[in-house]
Amino acid sequence: MPPDGDHRYFTSTAVFLNEVIKFAVSLTLAMYETSKTLAPSTPATVLFEQIYNGVFSSDGWLLAGPAALYTLQNLLQYVAVGNLDPVHFQVLYQVKILTTAVFSVLLLRRQLGLKGWVSLIILTLGVCVVSLPSSEKAADSFLLHGVPDHFFPRSKHELGQTVAGAAIPEPAPHLSKRSATYEGIAKDLPPADPIMVYSVGVSAVLISAIVSGLAGVYFEKLLKESSTNASLWMRNVQLSFYSLIAAFLGGCVYQDGAGIREHGFFEGYNAVVWAAILLQAAGGLLASLVIRDADNIVKNFATSISIVISFIFSVWIFDFTVNITFLLGTSLVLLATYIYSVPERKTHRPPPVRIVS
Ligand code: C5P
Repeated sequence: MPPDGDHRYFTSTAVFLNEVIKFAVSLTLAMYETSKTLAPSTPATVLFEQIYNGVFSSDGWLLAGPAALYTLQNLLQYVAVGNLDPVHFQVLYQVKILTTAVFSVLLLRRQLGLKGWVSLIILTLGVCVVSLPSSEKAADSFLLHGVPDHFFPRSKHELGQTVAGAAIPEPAPHLSKRSATYEGIAKDLPPADPIMVYSVGVSAVLISAIVSGLAGVYFEKLLKESSTNASLWMRNVQLSFYSLIAAFLGGCVYQDGAGIREHGFFEGYNAVVWAAILLQAAGGLLASLVIRDADNIVKNFATSISIVISFIFSVWIFDFTVNITFLLGTSLVLLATYIYSVPERKTHRPPPVRIVS
């Protein structure tokens, strides 16, 4: 057995367990909801039958689309987080605000108005300012100081090289079979090439942002425009049911199947991994409530505050150094969030108040 902490967990198992938790919570709440519409002594089997019908007999199968997209998004996010620092990940991921807006206009026929589009353009500018110069900056910094462990957790130790190129003992054979990122770098690229690490991270986060926009709007459309009027919890049962299948086949079998068979499903699990999975599941369920009660665009602007939170933690925990372009870009992202969320000014003046003496 390797010493504790020597192996990283398989990210696909985390995505799968996240779906298990959401499925269990959504099923419980959907059953509770259904029970209220039936007589008090209705047996549980009837409840299950109702849920079963909801998933298979009506338009529940339509949720397979967003389920596949969300699973892809969640898998890509782990690749992105493994190759970028948390702050750059958070800021670049805000591109999803733009993609969500575009998909909302196209699929939900939403009108954004001038304020909406102006704030989206400022947001895009902010994201560009943060991302473009940082590729050189990150590369410089990596080349000077080496890729920090948190940037690319397995690269140094498991691919058997340091950033400076000095070889250290060969990695254990099983480790080259991990995620596509590590595998790709192990086979085809100079180990821990900082520019490549950064490019993999940026590509993963940008694709993830596009998929996030499409998945969210697709889910919202099914939730709000479907003729069956299925409740949120029924929709969530349907979504996580198909997500479970996608996460199992795409992640646990295709992406990490060989490694999981060799080392076990729970390899590398510790309290932090479990906490991340629980937080991810709670975040997903909360996101669904916001999509129902507001919409995807509002959800995205609201969560962009997470940039500030991850910034504070990155300075504190990871010694993240701030440069002026980063500050400028992040400020633009937050300004865009503010402009989008302030209410429109009233164009009509209120009628003059008459003072009766
Ligand atoms: O980053 P983004 O806001 O797109 O992330 C939304 C998250 O919420 C995804 O991880 C997705 O799996 C989750 N979600 C969910 N249930 C829904 C809608 C989204 O768990 N009904």
